[in-house]
Amino acid sequence: MAQNILEINDLSRQFKIGGMIFGKKLTAVDQVSISLAGDKPQIMSIVGESGCGKTTMAKMILQLLEPTSGNIVIDGVPLSHYAKRKNRKEFYKMVQPIFQNPFTSFSSRKRVDSYLYETAINLDIAKTRKEAKAVVSEVLASVGIEIDHVIGKYPNQFSGGELQRISIARALIPKPKLIVADEPVAMIDASLRMNIVNLFKKLKDEYNVNFIYITHDLSTAYYVSDYIATMYRGNLIEFGYAKKVLNEPAHPYTELLLDSIPRVGRKWDQDVAPPVMESKEYEMEGCKFAGRCIYAKEICHTTKPDMIHLNQQHKVLCFKHNDYKPENHIRVYEKLDRSSSDEFKITM
Ligand SMILES: Nc1ncnc2c1ncn2[C@@H]1O[C@H](COP(=O)(O)OP(=O)(O)OP(=O)(O)O)[C@@H](O)[C@H]1O
Ligand SMILES: [Mg+2]
Repeated sequence: MAQNILEINDLSRQFKIGGMIFGKKLTAVDQVSISLAGDKPQIMSIVGESGCGKTTMAKMILQLLEPTSGNIVIDGVPLSHYAKRKNRKEFYKMVQPIFQNPFTSFSSRKRVDSYLYETAINLDIAKTRKEAKAVVSEVLASVGIEIDHVIGKYPNQFSGGELQRISIARALIPKPKLIVADEPVAMIDASLRMNIVNLFKKLKDEYNVNFIYITHDLSTAYYVSDYIATMYRGNLIEFGYAKKVLNEPAHPYTELLLDSIPRVGRKWDQDVAPPVMESKEYEMEGCKFAGRCIYAKEICHTTKPDMIHLNQQHKVLCFKHNDYKPENHIRVYEKLDRSSSDEFKITM
């Protein structure tokens, strides 16, 4: 069996908020563990409402932020290896970012083509400008753009959608094993979003590259993801095969999110996020979702739930599954606001 492409082990990140004296610690990412198999390229979406810790996770994977505790291993190599200055280039050949705003990914005063050539040369993918042009031409073609359309132009001469496709092409130059895309279509015209997200699906096999796709938008995640990780207030609350998680959500929060997406492009947090993010919610004693959960019992308010492994590829942070045994494929749950005969089915 191939080694995991990504291992996130008990990863946490705290921030100090408020003043020096009365300041508090906010746990933006709270003991998250995820393993992503490396036998074939995968797209893992990280989903959850605003402030749940998605960008903090992305920044730690991209080494833009130090974890407070825990560690990350990419294709068998701990990130601490790449923290040394001499290994930075090796890291950028392995892991590439795509950011939300393509206009800030490129310098406005630099021609886009020279930016791409420099990436190829600086990362030792090409020795000369001529070699670089061949590489750049190939990656641009993969995202549906001809190099002649790009030559000599500055970022403001492209549409947001085009420039985002060019930044995807730039990320492909070193043929990385992992691309981390944080809300890559949030600033793109809604009608073009699916085209860009679908590119990930095509490029995954063409370049043998894994994607971490971070989004609010469950509808785009649905179509491209192999795996889904749902986060809530810094916790990973559900992880599993995308179709399984989305068709049979095991966590009440995932269930709530799914109920809130009747149409493509709708953002969850317009419907389900509470209006104010309270830092104290990050410090609650029991399950952080208990206050909003239709299944919550006393224990949920007082005790932190453990991660329950429903099977090798599906885990959930919820008391509802505490006595789950794989051999009992059907469980009956008491729902607070539904009839007690209401069955909740889990199939393996
Ligand atoms: N540098 C920082 N200092 C203090 N708090 C921070 C910092 N960065 C993030 N946070 C807090 O950590 C929490 C998680 O933030 P993060 O940006 O990771 O969320 P997110 O899921 O990416 O949200 P969004 O969907 O709005 O992008 C938030 O409460 C945020 O205010
Ligand atoms: Mg974010």
